[in-house]
Amino acid sequence: MGRRHDPMLLRAADPSTVGAMLPPGDRFSGRPRRYHDAVGATDLLTIVECGDPILRRPADPVDTVDLASEEMQHLIGQMRATMEAAPGVGLAAPQVGRSIQLAVLADGPERWGQLSEEERTARERGPLDFTVLVNPVVHPIDAGAGRVSFFEGCLSVPGLMGVVARHRAVRVEALDADGTPLARVFSGWAARIVQHEFDHLLGRLYLDRVETRSLSSSENYVRYWAGRPPSEAAHGLGFTLD
Ligand code: NI
Repeated sequence: MGRRHDPMLLRAADPSTVGAMLPPGDRFSGRPRRYHDAVGATDLLTIVECGDPILRRPADPVDTVDLASEEMQHLIGQMRATMEAAPGVGLAAPQVGRSIQLAVLADGPERWGQLSEEERTARERGPLDFTVLVNPVVHPIDAGAGRVSFFEGCLSVPGLMGVVARHRAVRVEALDADGTPLARVFSGWAARIVQHEFDHLLGRLYLDRVETRSLSSSENYVRYWAGRPPSEAAHGLGFTLD
């Protein structure tokens, strides 16, 4: 997902549903584990950009035995550090050259840039504690929620932003970094992040769903559309909102 001025760095509505998910302890060794503490700045991963076939390949499920390995736990730490350094609100393993069903997510005030309170409210963007999703399955929750359209971006598609309609809320079944089954509802901006990262694991990019007429360079996004409702971009660029 995107950079500091990127609305993808926006919010998830209900802090109770995007709840307090701290880095899990290491149930394999019994020691507490803090992924990013184990990763130095020189350990950042290179982010793969669109055009690389790995981004277009459905990723393989992660075996739970492999998940417990030092190598995999280190990868999670590297992905967290790489996401934070970008900065972004989500990163999927194919984006760092690994075709496995693993994604990391996080959002918070340090990523909200110049968003006004009004914009954050419109996007239902709130704090999302660091979350690891392994082998996720995502179910839209459509009853009364519908879809919402906002600009988003992707670290694998540098320099572009575009409007994507996404489900306002989703239910996710996955494993966490520990291999513990997790079932959780994400809404608002967190639901957008989850859907974006889940798409990566299926070999999809937001470009496959974007309103093509909304596509804007980062500079023009800041110049014309940041701080304005998507309806104004729809009017100005000639597309229809869902
Ligand atoms: Ni992305």
